Amino acid sequence: MPSLAVIGHPVAHSRSPDMQTAALAELGLAGEWTYGALDVAPADFEVTVAELAAAGDYAGVNVTVPHKAAALAMADEKSPAAAAIGAANTLSFRDGRILADNTDAGGLLASLPRSFAGEPVLVLGAGGAARAAIWALVEDGARVDVWNRTAARGEAVAAELGARAVAGPDPADYALIVNTTAVGLAGEDTFEALPLAPDSFTEGQTVLDMVYTEEPSALLTAAAAAGATVVDGLEMLVQQGALSLRIWTGEEPSLEAMRTAVRR
Ligand code: ATR
Repeated sequence: MPSLAVIGHPVAHSRSPDMQTAALAELGLAGEWTYGALDVAPADFEVTVAELAAAGDYAGVNVTVPHKAAALAMADEKSPAAAAIGAANTLSFRDGRILADNTDAGGLLASLPRSFAGEPVLVLGAGGAARAAIWALVEDGARVDVWNRTAARGEAVAAELGARAVAGPDPADYALIVNTTAVGLAGEDTFEALPLAPDSFTEGQTVLDMVYTEEPSALLTAAAAAGATVVDGLEMLVQQGALSLRIWTGEEPSLEAMRTAVRR
């Protein structure tokens, strides 16, 4: 009976177990496959994963904060996305070998209403989540500008991933705006912290906020009010999870079942 799990620290808040369990049930695999959560401290990560990979009952794991770089580092094989992003969110165990992938990149593209190839895109942030977004959008052919609070970090990430760093972007210039920062989670004023104003948005723009909260974020509320197409972090969570499940099971999971589970 193949097992799956999400490994994080902390992990209790993760929506992946409910979401993936619903997807497995919809595929008719619930009796065969299980998906749980493992809280593993950073010091124990490598040993734990090596044991899971060697034991044979685990098909793979999702990896979340703070383990994504460590997951990539210990892999025997790395997908081009994981290698370029410098992080893995999906590990597969095959014959004792560890294969690393990053479905945050494909999940981001899948959560968007269309491709932005050839169009100007603004990514806010330069951390791990930003690296996946920038790599995916550049790979898809978008012209990506990166703004980051700490400019030097934004410049370094942009140069490495084929994007351009900008200091004072005009939001109206972009077909797509992606917020990868956690601004909005800790109660900061989104429009103080980011180079955006509540009236920045236009119809025809798409705005993706990776933050996921119970209520729509201030960013998405303002964007929706302007008639922009909005995508939230839960849709990205669903899409990256669906890609991971496809890697492990070879099956096409029901996005609707996953969306319902994640929004419950
Ligand atoms: P993650 O892996 O989730 O991207 P991270 O690597 O810690 O997390 O990166 C956090 C990102 O959010 C960074 O781009 C950070 O900006 P700095 O590089 O200047 O630290 C950004 N960020 C966090 N809090 C912020 C705030 N209050 N205002 C603006 N940007 C913020």
